[in-house]
Amino acid sequence: NANANQKDFLHISDFNKSTILNILDRAKEVKALIKSGERTYLPFKGKTMAMIFAKPSMRTRVSFETGFFLLGGHAIYLGPDDIQMGKREGTRDVARVLSRYNDIIMARVFAHQDILDLANYATVPVINGLTDYNHPCQIMADALTIIEHVGQLEGTKVVYIGDGNNIVHSWLLLASVIPFHFVCACPKGFEPDQETVKKVQHAGVGKIEITNDPKEAVRGADVVYSDVWASMGQKEEAAKRRQVFQGFQVDEELMKLAGRKAYFMHCLPAERGVEVTDGVVEAPNSIVFPQAENRMHAQNAIMLHVMGS
Ligand code: CP
Ligand code: NVA
Repeated sequence: NANANQKDFLHISDFNKSTILNILDRAKEVKALIKSGERTYLPFKGKTMAMIFAKPSMRTRVSFETGFFLLGGHAIYLGPDDIQMGKREGTRDVARVLSRYNDIIMARVFAHQDILDLANYATVPVINGLTDYNHPCQIMADALTIIEHVGQLEGTKVVYIGDGNNIVHSWLLLASVIPFHFVCACPKGFEPDQETVKKVQHAGVGKIEITNDPKEAVRGADVVYSDVWASMGQKEEAAKRRQVFQGFQVDEELMKLAGRKAYFMHCLPAERGVEVTDGVVEAPNSIVFPQAENRMHAQNAIMLHVMGS
């Protein structure tokens, strides 16, 4: 679906390589401007954004709200108890009403179909702030962070250790657009969506591997990446997952196997002592905080892109 939903930002694979690279270049430019203290670039002046959150958030909420404000706009936070999309009111109605007040909608939802419906019925751009299926804004920020630290994304080896979840799907979809090597090491039965894997293999752009052996996977990695074992919506499975995921913790030993050049990344929030040790998060080669900061800069560029400014 390379041309699907171009008004929106729902999946990285909806865009071609040059568009993704342009958005990342724009992110660097606007980041430099904002970090210089410049406050006269206000492309969103007089604009408003509705932000729908069916799940909790720190980074997504604060980075979108702050970024939109710094570029001149006003963002409205709608938490899980506010509009209760799909419960108090159908998604189709929410989409059409908000489109009459706001210039842009950002949403974090459970079912992926909800973001697709929202985008289909909204007449303004919709940005995906995480669904059970994917998290494209996170992986755009991660790509920016890798470009800044490694020098480029093309040709690098990114090794994800853990659950084949929404983060993995966005990494996979990025590999259908940009040629780099992505490895997902997960326990048996926790592999990413097969259709997504097939689609990315068929695209033949990046090299992807799905394995159950983290020790073998990390060799030669430029980045070792971790995420929680139980995502939002799966927290009641957390205890069981801790058993199943034994051997998939990113610890000092695994980072040693990865080699000296390997950076550590995590989308956060992290459960230290579970999927990653405290020592790995705090090590000098951990770039989790620059990575978190880049959420705002990547998203500013995504918003500029969908707003056509
Ligand atoms: N990484 C991320 O999306 O964080 P939040 O859940 O805090 O928004
Ligand atoms: N996989 C995690 C990512 C949180 C940013 C979740 O969905 O909860």
